[in-house]
Amino acid sequence: MSDERLDDAPEVASDGLDLDLWRKLWATTRPYRGRVVLLCLFGCTVAAAEVALPQLTRRLLDELVESPSTLVLWPYAGAYALISVVLVASVLSFIHHGGFLRTAIAHDIRRDGFANVQRLSLASFDRRSVGWLMARLTSDCERLSNILAWGVLDLFWASTLLAGITIAMLTMNPLLACVVLAVVPVLIWVSIVFKRRILHSAREVRRTNSRLTAAYNEGITGQRTSKVFAREQANLKEFGVLSGGMYACSVRNQLLNATYVPLVLTLGSLATGLVLAAGGMNVAAGGMSLGSLIAFMMYTRFFFDPINELSHWLAELQMAQASAERVLGLIEEVPEIADSDAVRARLAAAAEGPRRAGVAPDGHPQTIGEIEFRGVGFSYGGGRAILEGFDLRVRAGERVALVGSTGGGKTTLVSLLCRFYEPTAGAILVDGVDYRERGLDWYQSQLGIVLQTPHLFSGSVMENIRYGRLDAGDDEVEHAARLAGGAALFGELEDGLETQAGEDGGRLSVGQRQLVSLARALLADPQILIMDEATSSVDAETERRIQRGLERVWAGRTSFVIAHRLSTVRTADRILVIERGRVVESGTHAQLLARGGRYRELTSQQSLRESGRDASDWGATGASAPSS
Ligand SMILES: Nc1ncnc2c1ncn2[C@@H]1O[C@H](COP(=O)(O)OP(=O)(O)OP(=O)(O)O)[C@@H](O)[C@H]1O
Ligand SMILES: [Mg+2]
Repeated sequence: MSDERLDDAPEVASDGLDLDLWRKLWATTRPYRGRVVLLCLFGCTVAAAEVALPQLTRRLLDELVESPSTLVLWPYAGAYALISVVLVASVLSFIHHGGFLRTAIAHDIRRDGFANVQRLSLASFDRRSVGWLMARLTSDCERLSNILAWGVLDLFWASTLLAGITIAMLTMNPLLACVVLAVVPVLIWVSIVFKRRILHSAREVRRTNSRLTAAYNEGITGQRTSKVFAREQANLKEFGVLSGGMYACSVRNQLLNATYVPLVLTLGSLATGLVLAAGGMNVAAGGMSLGSLIAFMMYTRFFFDPINELSHWLAELQMAQASAERVLGLIEEVPEIADSDAVRARLAAAAEGPRRAGVAPDGHPQTIGEIEFRGVGFSYGGGRAILEGFDLRVRAGERVALVGSTGGGKTTLVSLLCRFYEPTAGAILVDGVDYRERGLDWYQSQLGIVLQTPHLFSGSVMENIRYGRLDAGDDEVEHAARLAGGAALFGELEDGLETQAGEDGGRLSVGQRQLVSLARALLADPQILIMDEATSSVDAETERRIQRGLERVWAGRTSFVIAHRLSTVRTADRILVIERGRVVESGTHAQLLARGGRYRELTSQQSLRESGRDASDWGATGASAPSS
């Protein structure tokens, strides 16, 4: 999937050169301007040394032809040694500075990109795949840092070299210089046309390769599913189509390269041949020295490299502009959910003044009491309305359970409560104050959330739980782990809490992952606890044990519990049945059962499914068991 979206990204910027964009990008080199100047300077000295060498050869040859008996070689040897030393030292220096610059710029762009990715709201991630974001911080970043370091160096080196050669040739023999320069436009044209095609074709190869890698990856990770559905042959056929495509575009790329190099060599040889013929006749007629002819021929061959490099960067510039648009767009993207200017000003003022007891940094009370959804409307990315005019008032310390059909909007409700998203209409009030008036960081740090699909980081179980509160001691972590699952967590794991969780908790069972995530939330000791299907994958026995531990956690703490397994919500203060974004029923377990509506229907369906195990339990609270 990610690769499809990655492919959708434009390869080449739509308009011509966007100077504003490049100016912004150029600003990333500001901390390293000294190095940039040095880099350009060394590029120029390399070019100057390259222009000087044929001149030295010319003089030596001319003197050798004119008066071989009086020739003193050592000044030439000295000059040659000096030019060589300048050349070698300059190359060494520009490799050093260029390498540093490229790495430093890439580092800065990645750091700024990552920093902003962390700030972005969840809605931004709904719009983009992980693969897309990764590509921005890897390949795009690489391209930009390359062009800002090596591209700039080559620009200075190549233009100095071209200018130097042209001047040297024009001074030596203007007519012959014109013969060589006549080939140059053709050389430039061929280079630009081919370089662009070669770059596009290389891009195609990379893109096909990434699709191939993705298919390979899916083939490996999805092998269980493939085996179960006997999809091996079909998979092989699909893979064959992809690898066939890879073969075709690789061959095309090789062909282009194979044509370009000989074509340029031919043009170079043609120019050298012309110089040799016209210059040779000139030398024979005494209009030109032999040294000048040799120097001319050397210059003619030197022409190829700078033109080749310049056309490469010119072609690259177009693609780099598209990369720059995407990367800078990501770095500069303003998070949709952030503190307003007024809140930021209050937070800044509070940071300077003394800490007031019982007052949060945003100036409002530290404790969260009543929470109210007032006429809340919401849709994801401006699509279909998930909630409309939703009203709910939750008292301080109340335990609210949300149940109802799949896709009803329960997770959406708690996502809004956590301010991962904000209401598109109406407001969510915390003690009568719109939660957008509160500091975002402070507010979210008061919430403990166990997500429906928990994420674990690679590291030990202990480290994953400690993520909830980094300064917690081992005993506190153990206590939270016991509260969240006790024996189940300790007993089943090979190395107890030191067991490695693996990438995204891959080495743990799904139920164990949920317990770790629950322990993490409990460790944070939040004011509001939100559990979205927190124990859906643990067995009924473990769940009952957890429930007993949680009763202590829940006591006096405002909690939102979402569960499909209704046995877990029976003791809630209030159960809300949510269907299509609306509360269709509300009350305690006993009240709702007695009412005989949707909740009762759900419980009877479930007790049927659970083959009567819970049917007897339903009656435990005093209400009659649903008929099954
Ligand atoms: N990130 C999203 N982007 C677009 N639509 C979404 C997104 N998340 C959820 N939805 C849509 O919002 C609706 C409500 O989803 P939500 O996850 O809140 O349901 P739920 O009640 O939690 O369901 P479940 O019991 O299956 O977890 C669904 O129709 C779903 O397709
Ligand atoms: Mg959900």
